[in-house]
Amino acid sequence: MRRISDDQQAIEFVISLIYERAHIRLQPCKESLIRARLGKRQRALALPTLVDYCNYLETGNDEQELTHAVDALTTNFTHFLREEDHFRFLAERAIPDMTGGTRQPIRVWSAACATGEEPYSIAFYLEESFPSISGWDWRVLATDISTKALGKATQGVYAGDRIEAIPNAWLRKYFKRGFGDADGYYQVKSQIRERINFRQQNLLGQLTIQDKFQVIFCRNVMIYFDRETQEKLVRQLCRFLVPGGYLLTGHSESLTGLSVPLRCLRPSYYQLA
Ligand SMILES: C[S@@+](CC[C@H](N)C(=O)[O-])C[C@H]1O[C@@H](n2cnc3c(N)ncnc32)[C@H](O)[C@@H]1O
Repeated sequence: MRRISDDQQAIEFVISLIYERAHIRLQPCKESLIRARLGKRQRALALPTLVDYCNYLETGNDEQELTHAVDALTTNFTHFLREEDHFRFLAERAIPDMTGGTRQPIRVWSAACATGEEPYSIAFYLEESFPSISGWDWRVLATDISTKALGKATQGVYAGDRIEAIPNAWLRKYFKRGFGDADGYYQVKSQIRERINFRQQNLLGQLTIQDKFQVIFCRNVMIYFDRETQEKLVRQLCRFLVPGGYLLTGHSESLTGLSVPLRCLRPSYYQLA
């Protein structure tokens, strides 16, 4: 146990805490996000500074507060091309296998889409491999429980530091740069936004979805649910997969031990059995 004595050490402490507990790599440039999210917890405990709050977490033996801190930082956490191997798998393996090279409709569901970075990443990969101009009919359903997150997702507007992971060629091809008041912001072009259907959907409620999907992304949301709830949810999701369809989970989410009709291809990659 160590004493945290300044702001830099506090930020380093938070970064390592969030990596240990949620496998999320926060960059030091996320200092303002860290301060904003943990500020609420700090005030709830009447601790004057972030350094005091981090020392409390480090020495306070308060598991519940550690959970609050992780929740505050991870609830809507997402970024473009997060766990990018999943998008490569989608475009290079899953869809080609399932369509067998024929131009049948491609349907993908991003089941906890947060502020949109995941469905847009899916869309960029699909458009690269199955261009609409060549007649491919691909669409993405993007759902989340949070209407606030969905509002941002639908607009598709991101500050410059949120799009750092996007290669320059894709930035030019898929984003419009803001001017004037919107300087420093980028909006996903309408031809991509139009192909994504954003809708509110509580994954633990009744799923009112009509389509079936070749691939479902349900990533970094099941960690919040207990095993029984995870099993129920995964069984529900399977009903929305076409035969042989794929379910992709977050890299730190395992379905091992759940009684579900899926076979594990490798950790976080599952296929309807
Ligand atoms: C950490 S984000 C994950 C975003 C994205 N899937 C990713 O991996 O980057 C978790 C998202 O799950 C959503 N969520 C939490 N509980 C949910 C529920 N019961 N139904 C639908 N979405 C939920 C949250 O609103 C949040 O946007």
